[in-house]
Amino acid sequence: MHENLVSLRAEALAALAEAGDAAALEAWRVRYLSRKGGALGAAMDVIGKLPREERPAYGQAANEVKVALEEAFAARQEALKQEALAAELAAGTVDVTLPGRPPSLGHLHITSQNLREYRAVFAEMGFEVYDGPDVETDDYNFGLLNIPPYHPARDMWDTFWVSQDAQPDPAQRTLVMRTHTSPGQIRAMRDRCPEPVRVILPGKCYRYEQITARSEHQFYQIEGLAVGRNIRLTDLIGTLHEFARKMYGPSRTLRVRGSYFPFTEPSIEADMDCILCGGKGCAVCKHTGWLEIAGAGMVHPIVLRNGGYDPDVYSGFAFGMGVERPAMLRHRINDIRYFYGNDLRFLGQFG
Ligand code: PHE
Repeated sequence: MHENLVSLRAEALAALAEAGDAAALEAWRVRYLSRKGGALGAAMDVIGKLPREERPAYGQAANEVKVALEEAFAARQEALKQEALAAELAAGTVDVTLPGRPPSLGHLHITSQNLREYRAVFAEMGFEVYDGPDVETDDYNFGLLNIPPYHPARDMWDTFWVSQDAQPDPAQRTLVMRTHTSPGQIRAMRDRCPEPVRVILPGKCYRYEQITARSEHQFYQIEGLAVGRNIRLTDLIGTLHEFARKMYGPSRTLRVRGSYFPFTEPSIEADMDCILCGGKGCAVCKHTGWLEIAGAGMVHPIVLRNGGYDPDVYSGFAFGMGVERPAMLRHRINDIRYFYGNDLRFLGQFG
C-alpha cells in the first residue's frame, strides 16, 4: 500500500481513539472524512498524479482505508452513545426498594369530630339521635314553641326567611332557616307520643347576623329532650353535670342560673367551672371561673301539649348547647370564622 495511506490510517485511528465526546467526534469527521478539505479526500486527489498503472491499486487501497475509517467512526460513535447513556442512568439512580410516598389523606372536620364526641357521650346516657330539617316552618321554629307572631321574644333570634307564599295553609306559608334546633323537640314529641322520649338533636342553625370573630351566621347546636312521667329539674341538672364530667373530666362542677326561654318553664342556664383554670379565673373564662355550656329548662306545658302530651301527666326537660364556642375555648381559637373558612392550614391542625 502507498505509504501516505498507511500513515493516514494510523494517524486517523489514533485521533479517533482520543475523541471523547460528540463535538470532538464531529471535528474528527470533518478533518478526515469530509469530501472537500478532508485528509482522505486529499489522499484520493493524489490518484490523478500517479502513473496510470499504479492508479487501480492505489484507488483500491484508498477505498479500503475509507471504509475502515467509516466503520471505526460508526463504532466510536456508538461507544460514546452507550457511555453517555450509562452515565445518565448512573446519575439518575432510582432505588426501587424505597417505600412509596403515601398519598395525603383527609380527616374529619373539627366540628364533625366534636359532634361525634357529643353523640358518644349522650349515647352512653341513653339518648338517641333524632334529626330534623334545616328548613322549618315558622310554626315549628317559633309558634309551637310558644313564640307567637309579633311576640317580642322573636327578637332573640334574627331570622333568615324563605318565602313560600304559594302554600295553601297559612300556617305553612312562611319557611325559615331554623334559628335553633328546638323545633326538633316538637317533631320528636309528635313522632313518639305517647311513648317517653330521650333524644338529642344535633344540627346546623342559621341566624341573620353580622359575621364577626365571635358570631357566624351558620353554626351547630345540640338540642336535648327528655319527656316522660316524673321528670324533674334535678334530672336536667344531673344530666348536664354528668355530660360536663364525661366530656371535660370527672372533676367538673356545675352551677345553674335562672334564665328565660319562651318554651321552658322554669328556664336556666348552666355553667361549668373553667376547663383551663379550674375555676381560679383566667382570660378564657374572663376571670369569672365559669363557662356557660347550655340554655335549658323544663318543657313548657304549652309546648308539651303542642307535642301531643298532657302536661298534667307528663313532664320533660330540654337543653340547647353550642358546638363551636366550647371548641374555641378548648383549643383557644380566637375567631369563629376559621371553622367554615376552609383554610387547610387551620383545619389540618385537627387531624
Ligand atoms: N333554643 C335555645 C337557643 O337557641 C336554647 C334552648 C334549648 C333553651 C332548649 C332551652 C331549652 O338559644
